[in-house]
Amino acid sequence: MSTIKAFDLKEIRRGNKALESDKTLVDSLAKASLETMTLEEKIEQLHGSKGSGDMGTEKGLYWSGENSAKGIPPFKMVDGPRGLRAGFATAFPVPMARGASFDPTLERRVGMAIGEEVAAAGGNVLLAPTVNLLRHPGWGRAQETYSEDPFHMGLMGLAFVCGAQNFVLASPKHFALNNLETTRFEVNSEIDERALHEVYLPHFRRSIVDGCAASIMSAYNKVNGTYCGENSNLLEKILRDDWGFEGFVESDWLLGTRSTAPAINAGMDIEMPAAYWFKQEKIEDSVAKGEILTETIDRNVLRVLRQKFAFGLTSQISVSKERIECEEHLSLAQEVAEKSFVLLKNEGVLPLKAIQNIALIGKLAATENLGDRGSSMVRSTHVSTPFDGIENWNGASFTFFEDAPESDVLEGFDVAVVVAGYTYQDEGEYIPTLNKESSGNDLARGGDRSSLRLPIDQEELIGAVSSRAKKTVVLLETGSSVNVYPWIDSIEALLVIWYPGCEGGKAIARTLYGEVNPSGRLPALFPKSDEQFGEWDTNAKEVKHGLFHGYRYLDCKHEKALFPFGFGLSYTEFKVKSVFVNRKKRHFSVIVAVSNQGKVDGDCVVQLYVSCLNSKVDRAKKELKGFGRLSLPANEEMNLEFEVPDSDLCFYDREAGWVLESCLYRFSIGFSSEDLPFSQTWRFEDTSWTKEA
Ligand code: GLC
Repeated sequence: MSTIKAFDLKEIRRGNKALESDKTLVDSLAKASLETMTLEEKIEQLHGSKGSGDMGTEKGLYWSGENSAKGIPPFKMVDGPRGLRAGFATAFPVPMARGASFDPTLERRVGMAIGEEVAAAGGNVLLAPTVNLLRHPGWGRAQETYSEDPFHMGLMGLAFVCGAQNFVLASPKHFALNNLETTRFEVNSEIDERALHEVYLPHFRRSIVDGCAASIMSAYNKVNGTYCGENSNLLEKILRDDWGFEGFVESDWLLGTRSTAPAINAGMDIEMPAAYWFKQEKIEDSVAKGEILTETIDRNVLRVLRQKFAFGLTSQISVSKERIECEEHLSLAQEVAEKSFVLLKNEGVLPLKAIQNIALIGKLAATENLGDRGSSMVRSTHVSTPFDGIENWNGASFTFFEDAPESDVLEGFDVAVVVAGYTYQDEGEYIPTLNKESSGNDLARGGDRSSLRLPIDQEELIGAVSSRAKKTVVLLETGSSVNVYPWIDSIEALLVIWYPGCEGGKAIARTLYGEVNPSGRLPALFPKSDEQFGEWDTNAKEVKHGLFHGYRYLDCKHEKALFPFGFGLSYTEFKVKSVFVNRKKRHFSVIVAVSNQGKVDGDCVVQLYVSCLNSKVDRAKKELKGFGRLSLPANEEMNLEFEVPDSDLCFYDREAGWVLESCLYRFSIGFSSEDLPFSQTWRFEDTSWTKEA
C-alpha cells in the first residue's frame, strides 16, 4: 500500500525566491548602495510616497523608496489575501474557505497565482497573508485569516508565502495580536510570554523562519501597553534576535506608526502609506538630538535594500497582463471553492438528482457575495453566483424565488435550496470613515459581529422555507463560524460555502449534484450558543489573551461544540484502519492507514492531536500537531505519514525558553477534534522516550 507525506516542506518551499538568493552577494550590493547615499536619500527608503503608481482603472499600488538616480527601484505594495486589489483580478475564495481545505499544497498554488497577478499589475510586494488567529469567530476580519488553530494557520500561511514569493515579496500580517476589529486602532492586547509564544506567534514564526517572508506588517493595536509599531519586544527581540528575521517591517496604514524615534529604534523600517512621523525633518531633528543613531538609520535602510536586491527588483521580471484572470487562475479558484465547502448535515438529500425539481430561494443566490469590502476586497470581471452555477449545470431544473414561496407553491418541488448568510455589510474590516450601507463597488464600514447568529431576515427565510418544503438544503455564505443552533434541526442538509470566490457558482452546482464530493473541514468550530465562547465585547479597549480559545477553550470547560474543529461530512465513508507511532532520532513518525469504504471517490483530512498528561504546567487538553489531506478512490486504502518533531511538543517557559517536559504524550488520530478513535501514549523521561503499554 502506498504512503504519502502529510506535509512536504521541500515541495511547499519550491521556487521561493527568498530561499534562492545569494545572501553574501545581496549583502554586499546593499552595503555598496547604502555607502553612496546621503541621509536624505536614506530617509526616502523609510517611508511610502504619496499617491500610488499608474494603475489602469484603479489606483492601488503604494510606492516607497524610489531612487532612480541611484538605480534603486521602488517597492510597489498592494493587497491582499483574496487576490490582487487593484483593477480587476481573480477573486479567490476567502482565506477562511481555503483554511477549510486543509491543503497547504493547494494554498501554495493560490499564493503563486495571486503573486503572479500582482507582478502582472506592476506590483512587487503583496500585503498578505493575514495570519491573525481567530481568537473569537465574531472578529470582523475572520474571513481574511485561515483558522482558530496556530498549527493549522502556520502551515497554510507558510504555503501562501512560499507560493507568492515565486513572483513577489510577501508580507504576513498583522504582527501581532490583531484579533478585534472595531477598536483595532486603540485596543491593548494583554498577554503573558508563554501564551504569546505558544499560541499567538507560532504561525508568524513559521512564515518567517521556514518561509523566509521578505517583510512583515506590524499591527495597529498595542501589546502589553506598547503600540506594535514601536514595540521592541516584538520587532527586535522576537523577530530579529529569536527568529533571525532579515526582511523589513512596514507599518499598517496611517495609524500603524505612532512616533519617530521610538518607532525607528524599535525596528519599524517603513512608514506606510506616506511619510508623517518619518518625514525628513522629523528624522533629521531626532538624529541631531541623538534620539536616533545614524547606525540605526543604516540598519533599517539595509533591511530595505537587501530585499530589493534579493528579489532582483532592479531587474523586475515582466509578467504579462494576460495572466490576470487567466483561465488557469479561474479554474484554480473553482478548484479551491470545491475543496473548501464543508458538509455539516446531510439527511439523505445530497447529492441532488438531475430529475428533481428544485426551488432555489434567497436574494443571495443571485447576488455577487465575495466578502469583505475593506482592504482585502477584489473585483472580478465576472462572478459565478449560485444561481449562475445551477442555471448552467446541464440538466438542472429549478425555479428561482427571491423570498420564501407559499406552502402550496413549494409542495410542487422535491427540494428547496436556500442560499443564506452574511454580506460585507455584516462583517469585514472596520473603516470608521465609511458608512455601513455603501453600495456598488465602494469600500464599506465592516466591523466585528457582536452576535454569531445570522441576521434575523436570514433566519426567518430559513424558517419559512423549512416549515413548508418537503426537504430543505441550506447553502451558508459566511467568513467564519455561525451559530446555526436555532435552525439546524429544521433542515435536512447544511453546506457551508463561505464567500466562494468568482467561480463559486460552478463549484456549488457540481457539489450539489455530486460531480464533486465535499471535502472541506471546519477551520473554526461552530458553537451550540454564542455563550460557549465566553466574554466577547466588540468595544473592548483592553483584551486579555490566554492559552485557551476555540476548541481548547471548550475542552477546558468539558463542553462539546455543535460542529467541532476539523469536522466535515462526505458523500462517502472513511475509516482509520491502523496507526503506528515510531520514534526516530528527533521526531516521531506516525503512519496512519485510511480506507474509503463508500461507493464514491473522495478526499478526507486526517488529523493528529497531542495531549500532555500529568504535565506540571497548565496545558490545553489537546493540540493539533499534524493534518494531511488524502484523495482516496472508492474501496481503496492508503497510508499517510506524519512527522512530529520534538520541538512541536515543547512548552514555553519565560526563563528557560522552549522546554520538552518529562511527562506522558498521547498521540490521537482521527477526523476531527472530537473524533479521535486511535491513540498511543509515549513517556519522555530525562532524555529518553518509551512507549506506554
Ligand atoms: C489596512 C489593513 C491592512 C492593509 C492596509 C493597506 O488598514 O489593516 O491589512 O494591508 O490597510 O490597504
